[in-house]
Amino acid sequence: MRREQSTTVPRPRDTARSATAVAHPNIALIKYWGKRDERLILPWTDSLSMTLDVFPTTTRVRLDPDAAHDAVTLNGEPATGEAGRRITAFLELVRELSGLSQRAVVDTRNTVPTGAGLASSASGFAALAVAAAAAYGIDLDATALSRLARRGSGSASRSLFGGFAVWHAGPEGATDAEADLGSYAEPVPTADIDPALVIAVVNAGPKAVSSREAMRRTVDTSPLYRPWAASSKDDLVDMRAALGRGDLAAVGEIAERNALGMHATMLAARPAVRYLSSATVTVLDRVLQLRRDAVPAYATMDAGPNVKVLCHRADAERVADAVRDAVPDGTVLVAGPGRGAHLLDEGGR
Ligand code: PMV
Repeated sequence: MRREQSTTVPRPRDTARSATAVAHPNIALIKYWGKRDERLILPWTDSLSMTLDVFPTTTRVRLDPDAAHDAVTLNGEPATGEAGRRITAFLELVRELSGLSQRAVVDTRNTVPTGAGLASSASGFAALAVAAAAAYGIDLDATALSRLARRGSGSASRSLFGGFAVWHAGPEGATDAEADLGSYAEPVPTADIDPALVIAVVNAGPKAVSSREAMRRTVDTSPLYRPWAASSKDDLVDMRAALGRGDLAAVGEIAERNALGMHATMLAARPAVRYLSSATVTVLDRVLQLRRDAVPAYATMDAGPNVKVLCHRADAERVADAVRDAVPDGTVLVAGPGRGAHLLDEGGR
């Protein structure tokens, strides 16, 4: 069934039954917030992100003909609860595409703190999509892999690509098959802005409310959701133009207003979802001060209290110094644009 919805071409049955992939997280400058279809993971709006060169996830998938169940480890520990359930559901999808029924042994190593609003699900499902497709012998191009990764976690669709990527929401009111085909990510042409994202890790612990639940509550109850979704469409048009002309100040201004608007939708949900902490606000004050001091620096926040500050790479150390003492344990990292998800050969390269 699903084979007709994408460019799947099953390979002969004797292809490699084991594959390892690496993917990096991405940070959205135009946010994905709100699903119009929870099963297919179709968003209400397009989003746009930068893939990072830090915090890679490495995932190995090996088919096990003798196993009755998938065996999944996350950082060496058996994956339990929701995380394990999502990975197994994703493998079911890959099995459907491949026509193979074998269970898999999955070993995932994350270097990003899981669940801290630093997009471990994006790198995680991007790496899993690439490794699982290869292990199960299905030949998908990057577009089709981004559709597949989307089914694990929406933001994962963008980590298939390096640098800047846009994830299309796809046509509304279409059939399931058309909607699935229309919702994929692709690279965004940009002039060189030599960007850095300075990541202020305000809190690396797991979040109290999952992004899935927070999105659902926002879409269902927030009177600000629809106005934000409408303005986000305009933000995307402006963002593409700003990236195309290499205007970092405009890119930053649009990203900051889009993120603050997304958080406003959550604050207006019933009950409110508030990921931002007092330390987040202190970092935001430092970013404003940097701009007053003529350093172009702009903030964005996801489903957590951490702040990512967009600036020129040449200003990154100054920006990091400006925010460091506002971060409780002083964890500040500098990231640049990174590679898209890719397979490693068996030697680990
Ligand atoms: O991790 P996901 O795919 O459930 O979505 C997270 C969405 C945000 O990180 C808050 C925004 C985005 O576009 O990445």
